[in-house]
Amino acid sequence: ATKAVILVGGPSRGTRFRPLSLDLPKPLFEVAGHPIVWHCLTAIAKVPHIQEVCMIGYYDESVFRDFIKDASKEFPQIKIVYLREYQALGTAGGLYHFRDAILKGRPERFFVLNADVCCSFPLNDMLKLFEDRDAEAVILGTRVTEDAASNFGCIVSDAHTRRVLHYVEKPESHISNLINCGVYLFSTECIFPSIRSAIKRRTDRPRLVSYPSSENLESSFFQDDDEEKSNQVLRLEQDILSDLADSKQFFVHETKDFWRQIKTAGSAVPANALYLQKAWQLGSKELAKPSANILPPVFIHPTAQVDPTAKLGPNVSIGPRVVVGAGARIKESIVLEDAEIKHDSCVLYSIIGWNSRVGAWARVEGTPTPVNSHTTSIIKNGVKVQSITILGKECGVGDEVRVQNCICLPFKELKRDVSNEVIM
Ligand code: GDD
Ligand code: GTP
Repeated sequence: ATKAVILVGGPSRGTRFRPLSLDLPKPLFEVAGHPIVWHCLTAIAKVPHIQEVCMIGYYDESVFRDFIKDASKEFPQIKIVYLREYQALGTAGGLYHFRDAILKGRPERFFVLNADVCCSFPLNDMLKLFEDRDAEAVILGTRVTEDAASNFGCIVSDAHTRRVLHYVEKPESHISNLINCGVYLFSTECIFPSIRSAIKRRTDRPRLVSYPSSENLESSFFQDDDEEKSNQVLRLEQDILSDLADSKQFFVHETKDFWRQIKTAGSAVPANALYLQKAWQLGSKELAKPSANILPPVFIHPTAQVDPTAKLGPNVSIGPRVVVGAGARIKESIVLEDAEIKHDSCVLYSIIGWNSRVGAWARVEGTPTPVNSHTTSIIKNGVKVQSITILGKECGVGDEVRVQNCICLPFKELKRDVSNEVIM
């Protein structure tokens, strides 16, 4: 039997997803008409004999209740549960804490998916590699440019056998352009003992381990009063994977299909585009029918009202109850629930927040980033700015106003032209 775990994180994470995560936990933000985490679940549902999916995070219990209720109806063959960490335990700490729940029903192996990635999740290919090689662990990898690689976990593998020889999380110097996609398949017999030995190492010599890099987990890490707490934070990436490379049957499946991280709010725009394109390729019935004014792929929620003279697409998602006026032009954008796009306005490479209004003849625009670029920031006049324009919830853009490469916090009224700014 096989299970899956989706690591959804918690409210202290996803800060780079602001202003959109101010109102909604990132995993529930909708791209291509569905919550980010729904795309993970859909991929898992395509694996034969999956019994159960555990979403592990430290959001409040209530956060995923409705989502799980709806998803359980849509995927009746899978049991979906939310397991709440009492605090952030790290990517391996959460797995270990809930090991009894994961081991229940005696699965031989389980997938682990980071909720904040967008890809085609070739889980069945990973499963095949796992079986063919009698593996203990399989990681999904993808190739990125040399300068992007050090933002990710880097994998050195044997080109022929695909065995992982070396794993380094966010290395300081270049070691490989094959990176960790944040998708794994572990044998239950291998992974829990590996985590246990990492814990043991940590308790034996706690001060010898140093943690560079990301976010606020480490700040209180080695203070004495927090020692016990911090001993429980375990990272798959730093504490476990390099060990697996040294001593276990650890293989990499390299995907040639699309892959992106969803970290910044702007990165929802490429994720939206990639999932829409995939749905289009698969002939999804959910997408709007192409016409002179609909350039596919476009998703329009059934409750939205789009004037037939408005031109939409490619890569546009229109949310529930959105109103789009005559002659409007929307391209490469996400328009969230209850927003209104007035007549003859233009929205390009942007996210229009819940309940926001874009005035007549206004322009709200971002700048395209190169295909396959793993960042949505660009350099403009020597300054780093977001390439995607984002309006938080309940913002207003006046008639004929132009907003270019801006991030606009909720409840702002833009009455003059603005560019390259964060409007607070
Ligand atoms: N439940 C739980 N508890 N989930 C967590 C925790 C935790 O304490 N910490 C992180 N997560 C979840 C996040 O929500 C995210 O889905 C995933 O685990 C990884 O998040 P990070 O720890 O922030 O790592 P990262 O995204 O910077 O890098 C990881 O992903 C990259 C691919 O996107 C690493 O695995 C990299 O090696 C990898 O390239
Ligand atoms: P399309 O022919 O509409 O696909 O435009 P394009 O491919 O020539 O240019 P692009 O898609 O990059 O940009 C969108 C288009 O919308 C641009 O031609 C804009 O000038 C145009 N546009 C700008 N403002 C408005 C507006 O208020 N209403 C409409 N309908 N279009 C506008």
